[in-house]
Amino acid sequence: MTTITTYAPGRAELLGNHTDYNEGFVLALAVDRGTTITGQARNDRTVRLRSRELKLTQEIALNQLAAEGVAPWSRYILGVVDQFQRNGLPVGGFEAEISGNLPLGAGLSSSASLENATVLFLVRAFGAKLGPLQMARLAQKAEHDFVGVRCGLLDQITSLMSTAEHATYIDCRTFEVKHLPLDGRISVIIANSGVKHALVGGEYNERRADCESAAQALGVKALRDASTQLLHSHRDNLADRIYHRALHIVGENERVIEGSEALRRGDITRFGQLMFDSHESSRHNFENSCPELDQLVATARETPGVFGARLSGGGFGGATINLVEKGSEKEVVRALTAALPDVNCLVTAASDGALARAGLSLSRRS
Ligand code: GLA
Repeated sequence: MTTITTYAPGRAELLGNHTDYNEGFVLALAVDRGTTITGQARNDRTVRLRSRELKLTQEIALNQLAAEGVAPWSRYILGVVDQFQRNGLPVGGFEAEISGNLPLGAGLSSSASLENATVLFLVRAFGAKLGPLQMARLAQKAEHDFVGVRCGLLDQITSLMSTAEHATYIDCRTFEVKHLPLDGRISVIIANSGVKHALVGGEYNERRADCESAAQALGVKALRDASTQLLHSHRDNLADRIYHRALHIVGENERVIEGSEALRRGDITRFGQLMFDSHESSRHNFENSCPELDQLVATARETPGVFGARLSGGGFGGATINLVEKGSEKEVVRALTAALPDVNCLVTAASDGALARAGLSLSRRS
């Protein structure tokens, strides 16, 4: 059998926190690290997986796939296989080794990179014809059903559809994707706080439920449709917590729109300011930060060469993203490490997503 190798990168969120499942706007980028899957199709209905880093294996028959029956690490892969089966897409037994260089639980979406690498692997091994959005949706549904996180599509789309040296803008209602050039003077530092975030079934899903309650109370389909004005006019009918959750989303949507304009005109200073504002809103309105992330952002704010910093991704731990002037990386890493000795900094750059890396078209919409 032919050996197949697929790869999908992790992602970092630039602006637009928790806006994706509210049908709003997001700016993100793919990082230069990710997950690789290498393996072959088999002639039977058995799946054999091996994780090189975790040194774990999993073997299961295709007709026995169920989240409870498999180890947590393999759910991201087997959840995708399950989706292929449920959607009547061609899939059979296979064996694969998973390896990667993304820190796990650091807010870089190692999960989406693993799901996307699996989608691409199955497409190559068994021949399904899928457009980029269908691929992203299969990966997302795998996470909903097998992992239990009701995530939006930010991670999967960014990991699949980004291009190097650009920010990826996503309209999470129409799924229009645009690539906005990033200023050549900037470098990206991901500062992993080491605080493990627990998206699985916990606070993430609670935040999503709060946002849905807010939309319902405001009489809109999704918070994407709420303006600051509408929100203020309902201030008295909304529970305090729900009001603040909605304020975060409405503010984030506005910041993505303004941030996109700032990128278009090359105003990285304004863009950085919006990142700091976003973090403040996470702290006070969405309450998805933690003292370690706050410390990292406060330090970044005082460090020369930093344009902007904020928590990236779900929150409750994980990483901050810092946009810094090229040449100042060492100094910034030094300052962040002095502030939080456990921090692990990764200097990265906006990189090609999985499709561009594989030489596949980004424009096939479905
Ligand atoms: C996680 C989810 C995404 C998105 C972000 C927050 O990364 O997987 O869908 O909601 O959190 O913006």
